[in-house]
Amino acid sequence: MNNIKINFSEIVQTPAFIYSENALLSAFSNFNKNFYGLCIDQIFPLKSHSFSSALVLIAKYVDGFCVSSLFEAKLTREFIGEKKRVHFTSPGLREDEIDELLGLCDSFSFNSLSQWERYKDKAIGCVGCALRINPQLSFVKDRRYDPCRTHSRLGAPLNQIQETLDTDPAVFKGIEGLHFHTNCDSVDWEPLLKTVEHLDKQIPELLRQCQWINLGGGYLFDGNIDFTPFEDAVFLLQNKYGLQVIIEPGAAIVRDACNLVSSVIDIIPSDGKQIAVLDTTVNHMPEVFEYQFSPDILNENEDGEYSYILEGSTCLAGDHFGEYAFDTPLEIGSKIIFTGMGAYTMVKAHMFNGINLPSVYALTESGNLLLQKEFTYEDFRNRCGVTANNESLRNTIKLKNYRQKHRVA
Ligand SMILES: Cc1ncc(COP(=O)(O)O)c(C=O)c1O
Repeated sequence: MNNIKINFSEIVQTPAFIYSENALLSAFSNFNKNFYGLCIDQIFPLKSHSFSSALVLIAKYVDGFCVSSLFEAKLTREFIGEKKRVHFTSPGLREDEIDELLGLCDSFSFNSLSQWERYKDKAIGCVGCALRINPQLSFVKDRRYDPCRTHSRLGAPLNQIQETLDTDPAVFKGIEGLHFHTNCDSVDWEPLLKTVEHLDKQIPELLRQCQWINLGGGYLFDGNIDFTPFEDAVFLLQNKYGLQVIIEPGAAIVRDACNLVSSVIDIIPSDGKQIAVLDTTVNHMPEVFEYQFSPDILNENEDGEYSYILEGSTCLAGDHFGEYAFDTPLEIGSKIIFTGMGAYTMVKAHMFNGINLPSVYALTESGNLLLQKEFTYEDFRNRCGVTANNESLRNTIKLKNYRQKHRVA
């Protein structure tokens, strides 16, 4: 979206997420180009991005959605209706939500054998039933993001499945699909092929029994990435086992479709450097803090003459974006534009310190900037447990009395 001109005088207030409809469309056309002729289904995971008007646009290009909670399932049905398929998987499936979820979803990947055993009688015949497996092949270096690590709760471990296939194969009666998600931001499809080949060797009987397999997300469809390993994996699954192949990429679709625009609200000299404080915070993009990386910024230039440490506006010492250089000096009101802000940002953003959430704008296909959502003090007070209007009125009156008594302006 960064070659699209935005007239920032149009933005009423920063911080603001701006998602570009054209960037979303180009992500889908990139997807179609790369996967053309492979006969695979694509579903979109709400966990990566769940802003409703973007979902309505995304719905035109995908076969369905993947949800991980009752709220995500309800939201999907509310905005997408009955037309698209909704698939559920979560380690957090609850007894008191299962009936409603079964009514909302078309298919379930049960996350563990015990989840499956507990709910299969309700689920069989009601939704398509699958099992999420942990192939126990790790490709992610950072343990915190590795779904295949030792003691992972994400999917039934392959050795447990093999053991059960040997001792009590009837457990798998009713399973018609398999699901795995084992990578994170990979720009190499080789791990996916290795995983599929591993399953082919280890659990061919289970693959034979199934009608479909969901290969998860975790891969970026970068321009230069070699798709041959992916094609080989799909070929194996389709030709040897006759499986319908499904993928559920999130970040690859939405990450580059959104920017976050913020303003400089203070500049502080500190120990020989200049700190620019922004009206946003790492809490609007929590993965910056979780992963400790510096997000990309438009118009930064590492050889630029003017260098700043960019920090957020909360009291958290670690509310820090990184050190950046620019060709022109920053001043109060300068705009800082973070790029690649479409995935795992809005969905994870929170209001720590009472800092408001960014507004959300859509940059439409025709180039108009439309305000979609503004957050207010009401959103904050609702989360803080203020419910009855009269309660807040009472407190406003009390506050007025206090201010009069203490002569607060
Ligand atoms: C089960 C599952 N599927 C799909 C995804 C989407 O992954 P990504 O956004 O990296 O493509 C995730 C992300 O955590 C996931 O847990």
